[in-house]
Amino acid sequence: MRIIGVLDSGIGGLTVCSYIFQKFPNAKIVYYADTKNAPYGGKSDAEVYAFVRVATEYLISVGCEVIVVACNTATSVIQKYNSNDFDVPVIGVEPETEGLSRDENTLYLATPLTYQNKNHLGFRRADTSCLSDIIERCVLSDKTLTSISFSIINKDCDAVILGCTHYAYLERFLDKPFLDGGKGVAEKIKTINFHGGFSKKALFLHFSGDKSFYKYFTAFKKFEKNLNNLRG
Ligand code: DGL
Repeated sequence: MRIIGVLDSGIGGLTVCSYIFQKFPNAKIVYYADTKNAPYGGKSDAEVYAFVRVATEYLISVGCEVIVVACNTATSVIQKYNSNDFDVPVIGVEPETEGLSRDENTLYLATPLTYQNKNHLGFRRADTSCLSDIIERCVLSDKTLTSISFSIINKDCDAVILGCTHYAYLERFLDKPFLDGGKGVAEKIKTINFHGGFSKKALFLHFSGDKSFYKYFTAFKKFEKNLNNLRG
């Protein structure tokens, strides 16, 4: 049976799971939320790489045949290391910016470590030091998400690139065009050859630290509903 392992520091990667289910409605996903070590955005490359190794080992041990690193920060880190370090195919997440004009009217939102690791030259940046942490804690508060969207995003730009999977929860509140990396992940999974087939939609949550089943499932359902309504 095909099992996809998905990991993130916390709740952000569930938005990528929604894109995966949209493409593969009967996918079976084991989701690893590294709540013990979150947030990743203020940590070092070496620390985040070590966290990813622990998470992937767990996901492989429960039978995952492909790992989705549903975290832009961790993706920016593993791209600097040797991809042969992993025993299964590993897919990262990154918005596709090729062809976009790089100027101050487009805001590229990413965590401090992603900003450090990637070249976002030309795009506008913002202070994101606490952003993923606030979204992790307040993801069910529409009031908080609205206020973040208006204070950071909706003011000074024409379009926004959401370069952290946590930030995808802001999409419902944006009044301008946006782009995230989730859709591209589902496309990449299509190119990987699994053994066997998917049988029935399933999402299993594993937490390395604090467990928040209610919050995670509720946020996932809301994001999935919005994705299916708005983007078919
Ligand atoms: N969701 C993650 C990302 O896409 C990590 C956020 C964090 O832990 O700081 O970058």
